[in-house]
Amino acid sequence: MKRLESIDDLEKLRKAIIEKNKAYIKTVALCGGTGCRAYGSESLKNAFEQALKEHNLSDKVRLVFSGCHGFCEQGPIMIIRPEGIFYSKVTEDHIDLIITETLIKGNIIDSLLYEDPTTGEKIVYEKDIPFYKAQNRIVFGQNGSIDPTNIEDYIAIGGYSALCKVLNGMDPTEIINEIKESGLRGRGGGGFPTWQKWESCRNANGNLKYLVCNCDEGDPGAYMDRSLLEGNPHLVLEGMLIGAYTIGSQEGYIYVRHEYPWAWANAGIAINQAREMGLLGENILGTGFSFDIDIARGGGAFVCGESTALVASLEGRMGEPRDKQHLHTVESGLWEKPTNLNNVETWANVPIIINNGAEWYSKIGTEGSKGTKIFSLVGKVKNTGLVEVPMGISLREIVYDIGGGTPNGTKIKAIQTGGPSGGCIPSSMLDIPVDFDELTKVGSMMGSGGMIVMDEKTCMVDVARYFVKFLKDESCGKCLPCREGLKRMDEILTDIIEGNGSEEQIELLHELALVMKDASLCGLGKTAPNSVLSTLQYFRDEYEAHVIDKKCPAGVCKDLITYSINADACTGCGACKRNCPYEAIEGERRKPHVIILDLCQKCGSCMDVCKFNAVVIS
Ligand SMILES: Cc1cc2nc3c(=O)[nH]c(=O)nc-3n(C[C@H](O)[C@H](O)[C@H](O)COP(=O)(O)O)c2cc1C
Ligand code: SF4
Ligand code: SF4
Ligand code: SF4
Ligand code: FES
Repeated sequence: MKRLESIDDLEKLRKAIIEKNKAYIKTVALCGGTGCRAYGSESLKNAFEQALKEHNLSDKVRLVFSGCHGFCEQGPIMIIRPEGIFYSKVTEDHIDLIITETLIKGNIIDSLLYEDPTTGEKIVYEKDIPFYKAQNRIVFGQNGSIDPTNIEDYIAIGGYSALCKVLNGMDPTEIINEIKESGLRGRGGGGFPTWQKWESCRNANGNLKYLVCNCDEGDPGAYMDRSLLEGNPHLVLEGMLIGAYTIGSQEGYIYVRHEYPWAWANAGIAINQAREMGLLGENILGTGFSFDIDIARGGGAFVCGESTALVASLEGRMGEPRDKQHLHTVESGLWEKPTNLNNVETWANVPIIINNGAEWYSKIGTEGSKGTKIFSLVGKVKNTGLVEVPMGISLREIVYDIGGGTPNGTKIKAIQTGGPSGGCIPSSMLDIPVDFDELTKVGSMMGSGGMIVMDEKTCMVDVARYFVKFLKDESCGKCLPCREGLKRMDEILTDIIEGNGSEEQIELLHELALVMKDASLCGLGKTAPNSVLSTLQYFRDEYEAHVIDKKCPAGVCKDLITYSINADACTGCGACKRNCPYEAIEGERRKPHVIILDLCQKCGSCMDVCKFNAVVIS
């Protein structure tokens, strides 16, 4: 890889790559994100490459092993360009058909098309799929078109042009002003104005300053940051380079959790390639600006995503947060030097703002929250995956227009946003605009972007206990309110779920939550009660049903429910009996069956297999 000595060199290279790629008639983008790899996309890629060779198409068709396209449940995903044909659930058996029918003859293979679960319609093009249609993928969209391990791909789509713009004469104060005008707020959870942090770090005393990219992402179910770093690492590097130039930093770290092997592998490859090309390291593009990045792997503790705990972990110390009120990371962070820490998605937004301008960017979103946000949309929705939406979109649009609503048409009960630090928003508030401030107002938060859709069959007390239990296990134990508070909350919630709760305990739970919010040392403990507080605020009747009536209205809490068979509906087909792992069902063929309560372990298998809705929960 030839070292680029100037900005002009980079522009020449870009033109040469674009020219070289014109030789290809078609591009096949096969998803190589973690989700699609789990479906076997790596061996599919090897087989496809081989098949292209056998058909003498290797120099006409370019196979790009890309990053995540967001719609992981449909994986392995393949997009054939320039048409934009979207094939889902592709296997090795389909390869010859794709080559002979679609690539050679231009025919569409019906069986590989995505079928809209709402209308039953088969959709040919990616742009027409409802899951993608309502999104605005300004940050995540590039993932599906480039090979993250090939720097040339990133350069071909305009990569590193924002860095060139900056190095070509933008003053650091001008850049800070651009970021300020754009309205960019940190995507790691708190929504802190990015420009303000950059300015404080730039103004902090000392010549040695550090930059950190936070890719810890410990929220259960969230994988936006992983997919972004894994699928488009140069976008993150470019954002960090611009930040370093602005702040006056020489060294940066990407902190990636250990469980993200492809994210750190691809980030490592990207760093090496950028270094070789003179886009990272000494005298970048011959401009005299120097900055280098290293990768640090985190052990996988949720608390290590918190900025001060992350800094401690980076230094090789125990990942425990410290009090932020008296000492700010921007002034004294890593090895007590000024340190600017931003989330992966925040860094990824920077080149986009510089390239398109603050005015363009600030037109997307709401008054207080600009741009887009990537969410991981999961739970009781037909279409799950990573979605990038403009700030201000309603929860309803996300859940119905993109997510397609609930799979069985059941009623939505709540949307949980913000991961373990967030709260549950009732379905009556589906029309609120999704932005930093509105979510906080209703008792939840944006967090890093987890979004779980819950339907009528979800017990809100059980949900609160799930998050409390997670946080209890993840609390570092340094301060008492969080360490002991979470333990007590877990005990009380367990009592309620097991039918041993009382009305006094509900009050105690509420009081405990307020104390923890006030008295905990770091954000983990301060936000930990949100799931309890929001469920108490919007679903108090469910708590009361558990403690007063000793019932779980959603039919989830095992100690408060009983399975039985409605003799009138039962056809005696025997499916439940065959599937009961505890041999707790009796009955003769074509005669109503019966559940033996003493043997029943309430696993729910009988209900799942009964086609006649004869198994009921009471
Ligand atoms: C318990 C806890 C966990 C956190 N985990 C993450 C994380 O995984 N990724 C992240 O970017 N920020 C996380 N944060 C927020 C960081 O402390 C910090 O605010 C953020 O990384 C700053 O970047 P931003 O300004 O770009 O959002 C966490 C905060 C807390 C309290
Ligand atoms: S609030 Fe919890 S995680 Fe934070 S310092 Fe205290 S014990 Fe540790
Ligand atoms: S599966 Fe349903 S219909 Fe069949 S025997 Fe069991 S309860 Fe009756
Ligand atoms: S709930 Fe599970 S254990 Fe109980 S009867 Fe049904 S299948 Fe058997
Ligand atoms: S991993 Fe392939 S679409 Fe997400």
